[in-house]
Amino acid sequence: MQEPQQPELGHDPTPKQSPEQMPTHPLFPSTMGAQDLAKRALQNLELSGLLRLRRVAQTPTGSAQRFGPENFTTFCSNDYLGLANDLRIKQALIDGARLWGVGSGASHLISGHTQAHEDLEARLAAWQSPHIPGAQALLFANGYAANVSLMGALASLATFALRPALQDTQAQRSSIPSIYSARLNHASIIDGIRLAKQQGPLELQLFDTEDLGPLERGLAADTSALKIIVSDTLFSMDGHLAPVHAMLELAERFDALLVLDDAHGFGVLGELGHGALEHLQVRSHRIVYMGTLGKAAGVSGAFVCATAALTQWIFQKSRPYIYSTASPAALAHATLQSLTLIEGAEGQLRRAHLHTLIECWRSQAQFKRWQLSPSWSPIQPLIVGSNGDALRASAIIQAAGFLTVAIRPPTVAIGTSRLRITFCAEHTLDDVARLITALQSAESQILSGCP
Ligand SMILES: Cc1ncc(COP(=O)(O)O)c(C=O)c1O
Repeated sequence: MQEPQQPELGHDPTPKQSPEQMPTHPLFPSTMGAQDLAKRALQNLELSGLLRLRRVAQTPTGSAQRFGPENFTTFCSNDYLGLANDLRIKQALIDGARLWGVGSGASHLISGHTQAHEDLEARLAAWQSPHIPGAQALLFANGYAANVSLMGALASLATFALRPALQDTQAQRSSIPSIYSARLNHASIIDGIRLAKQQGPLELQLFDTEDLGPLERGLAADTSALKIIVSDTLFSMDGHLAPVHAMLELAERFDALLVLDDAHGFGVLGELGHGALEHLQVRSHRIVYMGTLGKAAGVSGAFVCATAALTQWIFQKSRPYIYSTASPAALAHATLQSLTLIEGAEGQLRRAHLHTLIECWRSQAQFKRWQLSPSWSPIQPLIVGSNGDALRASAIIQAAGFLTVAIRPPTVAIGTSRLRITFCAEHTLDDVARLITALQSAESQILSGCP
C-alpha cells in the first residue's frame, strides 16, 4: 500500500483561493485586509473620543516634568511619596547592579532567585505578619502579573484539593469556586478572573462596596468549598477606601478568603506605611494581600503575602511566576532601601505632608458642576461627565502648564469620565492652589461653550 504523502514542513496543502474567489461579508469589501481594518478601528476609537495617546517624558517622574519642549506641574503619577527619583534609592540600584549585575538570567524557579529577592520577600512578609499570621511573601515583576497569578492559582485550589473525591457529584459541585469581585476592581483582577474562567468552571458575582447586602446573601446561600471575596483597598480611579472591616467580617462568618489589592495603599496608608492592613488594624489568616512596588515605593514590581500554605500554593500554580524571567536582583536591592525610607521618620513626614495637600484640595476645590470623589487618599478624581468634556478639560489645563489625564470608559463607567488627579509628597501647597484656579477656569470655559 502506498504511504500517504507527508506535506513539506511549512507547506499548507489546502488549495489557494484567488482574491476573487474569497468569500466576502456584505459590510467588508474583499479588498479590506487587516491593515484597513486596523485603520478603520482606530478611526472609530477616535470618533468616540476613546483613542489613547502617550507622551514622551524628557525628565524623570516628579511633581514637575518636561514632555518635549513643555514643562508641566504634574498631578498624574502614582509616585505618591516622591521616591521614584530619590538619590538614596538610585544609589542602592547602582550598588545592587554592582553586586548582582543587570539581568537575573532565568525565572525564580531556575536560577534567577537571589539572596536580594529572598531578603526583600522576608522584609515584606515581616511588614504584613502582624495582620496575616505566619505571613510569607512572593515577589512578582508587576502588580498585573501578581493579580493574574493570584486569581488563577486560588481559583484552582478546591479542584486540586478535592481531586480524589471528584467521582462524587457533591464534591464536584463544591469544588467549583465562587468569586465575589468588587465592581470597581482593577483591570488586572478582572483579567485574572477571566483567565481563571478559561481554566475551569467558577461562579462569579460582582458586588458594590457601598451595599454589601447582595454579597452577604450570596455568601449565605453558597455551598462551594472555596469562596473568594476580592477587592481593591483604595480604588485606583476613585480613591476611596473599600469597607475592609465589613468584608472581613463576612469572610469570617461565611468561611471565605479575602483578597485585597493594596496597590495604592502600600507605602501611603498606616503609621509606618505598611499599607491598608496596618491602617485598619485587621488580622486574619483569610487575608491574601497584594502590594505593588512601582507606585509609592518608587521602584518596580509587586508582591503577594498570605499564610504559608496559600503562598506556597500560589508559588506552585502561578504561570506568570513560573514561566517568566525573575525581575533584576538590583531592583530588589533598591526596593529594600525604599522600604527603609518608607518606614522611617522621612516616610512619616512625607505621608503627613501628603495629608496636608489632600486637606487643602478638599477644602478649597469647589466647582459649579464638576464633582469631587469621596476620597481621602492621594487619588482625587474630578468627575467631569462626558468623554469630550474630560478631554477638553485636560487640554485646557495642559495649556496652563498642568498635567492630569482624562480617564474614560471602559476604565470608568460611561458618563463619569474624569480627570484623575493625584498628589505626591513633592507638591507644595502653592502647586495645589494653582491647580485649583486652573481647573475652575477650565470648567467655566467648558460650561460657557468657549472652545
Ligand atoms: C489597583 C491596581 N492593582 C494592580 C495594578 C497593577 O500594578 P502594576 O502597575 O505594578 O502592574 C494597578 C496599576 O495601576 C492598580 O491600580
